Amino acid sequence: MTLDEKIGMVRGVGQFSSRCVGNISPPSRSFVVSGTNITIPPLCFNDGPAGIRLGGSNVTGFPPAINVAATFNRSMMYARGVAIGEEFRGKGIHVYLGPAVDIMRNPKAGRGWEGFGPDPYLGGEGAYQTIMGVQSVGVSACTKHLGPYNQEHWRYGLNVNVDDRTFRELYWWPFMKSVEANVSALMCAYNQVNGTSSCHNAALIGEEGYLRSEGFQGFVVSDWGATHDSAADNANAGLDMEQPGDYILIGGGVYAGLEAAVDLGEVTGARLNEMVTRILTPWLRLGQDQGFPETNFNAQDPDGTDALNLNVNVRTDAHTALVRQIGSASAVLLKNNRTTSTATGTTIRGLPLSKSIKTIAVVGQDAQQLNLDCGGGLNECNDGTMIIGWGSGSNNVEFTVPPIDAITDFVQDFATVSSDITSNDLTGGPAVAEGKDLAIVFANAMSGELGFYNIVDGNEGDRNDLDLWWKGGSLIEDVAAVCNNTVVVIHSVGPVPMSSWNNHPNITAIIYAGAPGEQTGPALIDVLWGAVNPSGRLPFSIDDDEASYGTSIVYGIDPFPVIDYTEGLFLDYRYMDSQDITPVYEFGYGLSYTTFSYSSLSVEASASSASFSFVLTNTGSVEGAEIPQLYLGFPSSAGEPDKVLRGFDNIFLASGEKQTVTVTVSQKEMSIWDVVSQAWVVPSGTFNVYIGASIKDIRLTGTFTI
Ligand code: BGC
Repeated sequence: MTLDEKIGMVRGVGQFSSRCVGNISPPSRSFVVSGTNITIPPLCFNDGPAGIRLGGSNVTGFPPAINVAATFNRSMMYARGVAIGEEFRGKGIHVYLGPAVDIMRNPKAGRGWEGFGPDPYLGGEGAYQTIMGVQSVGVSACTKHLGPYNQEHWRYGLNVNVDDRTFRELYWWPFMKSVEANVSALMCAYNQVNGTSSCHNAALIGEEGYLRSEGFQGFVVSDWGATHDSAADNANAGLDMEQPGDYILIGGGVYAGLEAAVDLGEVTGARLNEMVTRILTPWLRLGQDQGFPETNFNAQDPDGTDALNLNVNVRTDAHTALVRQIGSASAVLLKNNRTTSTATGTTIRGLPLSKSIKTIAVVGQDAQQLNLDCGGGLNECNDGTMIIGWGSGSNNVEFTVPPIDAITDFVQDFATVSSDITSNDLTGGPAVAEGKDLAIVFANAMSGELGFYNIVDGNEGDRNDLDLWWKGGSLIEDVAAVCNNTVVVIHSVGPVPMSSWNNHPNITAIIYAGAPGEQTGPALIDVLWGAVNPSGRLPFSIDDDEASYGTSIVYGIDPFPVIDYTEGLFLDYRYMDSQDITPVYEFGYGLSYTTFSYSSLSVEASASSASFSFVLTNTGSVEGAEIPQLYLGFPSSAGEPDKVLRGFDNIFLASGEKQTVTVTVSQKEMSIWDVVSQAWVVPSGTFNVYIGASIKDIRLTGTFTI
């Protein structure tokens, strides 16, 4: 390639000239390499992590990562990756801008739902499975955002100070697992880390940095406009590609000076060759040079009406079914007070619902269809049901089946539905609920990405507080006051306060459904009427008080704040455990329509791996899946939190069935990051092993000594 051609490979084409969210300008000629004719297309980069955004019509609205995390089910994580990859491929997108693996450091973090929550192990498993799935169909994944990048306010310039060990063990862990999955690309973040902007931070992305020393062979691309330095600074620090290529209010456009920097010898020709090689290698490795569909949409046209937008249908019945399946598998049953009338034997309260329930009230605007035409592809509205947050991590919500439609349709032969759902009306809602056999009350909380102009009900990306929106808590209380069989459904991007109503005797069940994607209504039906036995588990702890999480969002400091991650390894349940805080519902918690017992733990451990076997039995009367979780307690000298998640499985058992379950922990998973030797080290001493149904519901314990 000529110098010009190489520069075209590493620079975006500009935000308004880009047919995808990002493109490059490839050489206009073909090359013959080892007898094969190679023509490089204008590589297409597109959002988002939960399926296609701005790809024209006919795409599936997958649930975001926080919900697939709540399934604790690796095969579902993988299947979602495959399905997303198939849709990206069908639209001719070479690089999927996901997974997002940013740790939910604080529950109000605007983009917390785009990732897998506050636990690094769960995030690492989610990242690994997603990438393996996406890349199995020949689409490159791009893990983001390195980072750490954990709040929206001031993201374009805030500085995160984080120590080496905390970084490696927490924020880096899902990136490390991405490298293990051979991820094609990695996106550096807007903010600074330890005093240097991420895309100019050689300690992160340079030859000697974290990423390359873990064996990463793909390319590093900037977040959109996240270059704040100069062509030589960024290229020499390790940035292989700049997107979208021009200046966009906050930064960008520095590679306009790359050619001059190479001419002047500030960037060597060898470095430029390396940048091009790293971009082309995954393209070839995944076979995108042969038979890859041409890009068939125009991201500049959110409505999908432009002639370049062919609106190719990439939806399939299997994708729709998978979204519904993840929706029900990620629903977390938080409370279920089941009572059966002794006189007739008919179930009258609690879940699953029976067809003997004849009058149903549906209350709350979260039950109604969302605004399908909102925010030009960014979903920046919350006036209907909440299925995903807003911003670049959103997707096309066109095919959403809201709860009200699904319920009305499902019960039409056996019950009547009355509803009050156009707003959260504290008079109308209870009036409809009064005297009904059942009231289902919906409430939500939403968050998203910081935009330039987009403030949704006063929230600039990060949530202003943990509260339910639109007086949702009051609505729940007022409905519960008049209906003694009230079922609460929460759609939220993260924890919300519950203790003012969760113990109300008239609230017979609570489902935390998270952000379930487009098949939200049908997925809920499956859980409510028992076609699916719930097995979702909380991927974070739920508490009323933000102080219980030990971190905060920095809102109001100008110029850009410095945020010291002084809490170290202690986030969410790790922090609560260390402070003896009992949350309202803890990490890993979730009920089932059946019960499980755990017995006969055996431990086999050496310094290179450990395996733990036990017998799991379904002791209840219906089939269902249990999520056994393994928490490790490191030797006290190691300075780790008391218990850290290091394993889980998803085991489906018929009533009465038992199975021996084995969970293995690798050497790295038994290690801490030793800052002195700069290595993963298994600490010597006695480890405690805790196996159970949540961080607080430990059923079996053991020890081993290294
Ligand atoms: C976001 C990225 C996204 C990019 C392109 C940025 O503002 O931070 O996550 O991939 O835009 O839309």
